Amino acid sequence: MSKNATLEIDGKKYEFPVIEGTENEVAINIKTLRAATDGVITIDPGYKNTGSCESAITFLDGEKGVLRYRGYSIEELAEKADFLEVAYLLIFGELPTTEQLAKFDSDIKNQSHVDEDVKKILDGFPKSAHPMGVLASLTSALIAFNPTSVNVDSEEEMYNAIVRIMAKFPVLCAWAYRKNAGLPLDYGDDNLGYVDNFLKMMFKKPSGEYNSNKVMVNALDKLLILHADHEQNCSTSTVRIVGSSHAGLFASLSAGMSALWGPLHGGANQAVIEMLEAIKADGGDTKKYMAKAKDKNDPFRLMGFGHRVYKNFDPRAKIIKVAADEVLNDLGVEDPILEIAKGLEKEALSDPYFVDRKLYPNVDFYSGIIYRAMGIPVEMFTAMFALGRLPGWVAQWKEMRLRKEPIGRPRQIYIGENHRPFKSIDNR
Ligand code: CMC
Repeated sequence: MSKNATLEIDGKKYEFPVIEGTENEVAINIKTLRAATDGVITIDPGYKNTGSCESAITFLDGEKGVLRYRGYSIEELAEKADFLEVAYLLIFGELPTTEQLAKFDSDIKNQSHVDEDVKKILDGFPKSAHPMGVLASLTSALIAFNPTSVNVDSEEEMYNAIVRIMAKFPVLCAWAYRKNAGLPLDYGDDNLGYVDNFLKMMFKKPSGEYNSNKVMVNALDKLLILHADHEQNCSTSTVRIVGSSHAGLFASLSAGMSALWGPLHGGANQAVIEMLEAIKADGGDTKKYMAKAKDKNDPFRLMGFGHRVYKNFDPRAKIIKVAADEVLNDLGVEDPILEIAKGLEKEALSDPYFVDRKLYPNVDFYSGIIYRAMGIPVEMFTAMFALGRLPGWVAQWKEMRLRKEPIGRPRQIYIGENHRPFKSIDNR
């Protein structure tokens, strides 16, 4: 039976339909609010209570700590699937058959070249440039080199744009790193899998062979899967809203990368390691930093803690914590900041400030420790997040276009000056 919600303004009642998702999430559909009420709108800074779309890609229940891509639990996907399979699942809605996966893989490999002129653009950046700025710029630059990927309408054109970016983005990531590290730019090897190939592009020494390391490949596969989508977060909403103007896939992704870069979002993985290093350099006194995080007069926040949606454990953080122990063990790496991180977590989980506010470790708390053990420098951490999030952004952009969503254009409540006469410059 359909349900309605009633709104009363100045004694006048308005009815709005209540919609329900497949996991029984409930929303009041206020599409007709403004027209029916003669201009009343809702206001919700940070969109804490606002659903921007209906989506069939990712389900998360922040109270129960549940995360599923297309109905499959993140725990099962992280254990049993590889990243390319998960990318296919997110973008096309179903797990691929062997043939579908082989075709996706080979279509991506056929597009893995990046125009040599892109190297000239990369050359123009200083060596110290942050990889996220470089990646957002180069992803945008790809538009000029792939003009047929801009105005895509048919599913075939979309598919071609998707395999192009899935192929070229790992190359750009590896190039951003190699430029920073002073290494010659390299291409991959079509005989390797998607993740192994990425590691080769990153780490192959100019003078030596690349030897695949199964522990590294498995660890990175898992991390990328855990980051692959997270429904309507800041960067994904950016991708959808930019895409809603029909700006094109690459432009939308470039905007998403800029959103991801911020320390409250994907930039947190870099900020966590910098924070843990600072605590270590300061003698490892975690209590001091706990006190700073709780002090409202101190801007310091415990990075890697808290989440807009998860008010229980972030299921990704649980998997990553176990993986961190395993990977460091398998790679024979000892990292004192892992102990500092575990100490901070233990204290926070029994501290009323964190308990009352339901602040738990999020995906970024332990991921950097694994990246570091793999030899990935801290400036690249958010780029690794972007590499993982790429299929999620792509899937969300594709869904938005296929559902023919209208251009995103929120309203506002104006709180500035009322109309006033112009003052000439000598009277100001
Ligand atoms: N350290 C100390 N206090 C915190 C923290 C933290 N990390 N996070 C939230 N709080 C406090 C906050 O001060 C507020 O306290 P009060 O109610 O007394 O004013 C309360 O908890 C609620 O915080 P909020 O800022 O209103 O919550 P939000 O949903 O707007 O923000 C968040 C979520 C993730 C931005 C925030 O928890 C945060 O800044 N965390 C640190 C940065 C971080 O780890 N970001 C990665 C997020 S997960 C991956 C991703 O999205 O990319």
